[in-house]
Amino acid sequence: MTRVLSCIKPTGEGHLGNHLGALRHWVRLQHERESFHGIVDLHSLTVPVEPGLVGERTMALAAMLFAVGLDPDVATVFVQSHVPEHPRLGWVMECTTSYGELSRMTQFKDRASRSQTEFVSGGLFTYPALMAADILLYDTDEVPVGDDQRQHVEITRDAAERFNSRYGETLVVPTATTPPAGARIMDLQDPTSKMSKSTRTDAGSIGLLDDAAAIDRKFRRAITDSLRQVAYDPERQSGVSNLLEILAAVTDRNPADVASEYHAYGPLKADAGAAVIEMLAPIQARYLELMKDPSELTRLLGIGSARAHEVAATTLDRVHSAIGLLPA
Ligand code: AMP
Ligand code: TRP
Repeated sequence: MTRVLSCIKPTGEGHLGNHLGALRHWVRLQHERESFHGIVDLHSLTVPVEPGLVGERTMALAAMLFAVGLDPDVATVFVQSHVPEHPRLGWVMECTTSYGELSRMTQFKDRASRSQTEFVSGGLFTYPALMAADILLYDTDEVPVGDDQRQHVEITRDAAERFNSRYGETLVVPTATTPPAGARIMDLQDPTSKMSKSTRTDAGSIGLLDDAAAIDRKFRRAITDSLRQVAYDPERQSGVSNLLEILAAVTDRNPADVASEYHAYGPLKADAGAAVIEMLAPIQARYLELMKDPSELTRLLGIGSARAHEVAATTLDRVHSAIGLLPA
């Protein structure tokens, strides 16, 4: 069966973009593919973190992944730091990617150039090698990711091919896939930029744990335009198109069809808000249930990590023996 892997960093409460652009698709795919999903806690160490916080966020994210519908009996949900093969293959991948390739990563360039005073860790630079290890350890065929991560999947492919040509066919070369709809949910207050964790605090972003009143208010205050027509045209009407995109994604329709049902912005905003509230209500209820029982969450993560470890250990052995490292 085709194997799918995608991971997510435990960097705080998820938002609507994460759900519509990623989590929802993972839930669907788990029945068609063999799925692995890592909570990549080691990746969140590229910037300094307060002691204890990563663990709390890992639990909260695990609860959210199960709440949105990942089934621990079907998909393998694991914690990256519980599977020691990740940093071990990560080192081999650091030695299989070049300084030049890593320097060309847009995300690194953005982050490193942002401030002269900010601490730029070595991990921020080598992070794509760890991400390559995340993917390659599971003989992954497909990696569903947003556009911003395509470059990292590309460097993973190059590293796998380079490894195979140095040491013989060992690693499966993965492909990046982009979900059909909801791939880019924009900020409700600034519809030309992506809804993101860094704008999480303001009115433009819908947190997955926001209550109904907050969601309704944020949608009603969403930025539109003065054209007074409901059309799906992301170039000219970015705000309205984003609302259409959200409503279409939540109700499984296409944005242009949704547009034909509206003539005014008020009802569109109200319906988009109501649809999101209805979608999130059962997820929030399950999340709260799961968060009440940390030992059950720990047990579920233990099952996932054991399964992940089994697969990852086999791949790492293959890699070590292809290189010809002396067996332990
Ligand atoms: P991040 O929040 O950047 O760690 O992303 C976690 C996952 O959510 C990735 O697969 C992203 O591609 C996806 N994602 C993040 N922001 C958005 C957004 N605004 N619209 C759609 N997908 C998103
Ligand atoms: N780099 C990804 C992000 O910032 C998270 C990630 C880490 C990932 N390892 C991965 C995504 C492996 C897909 C596959 O969102």
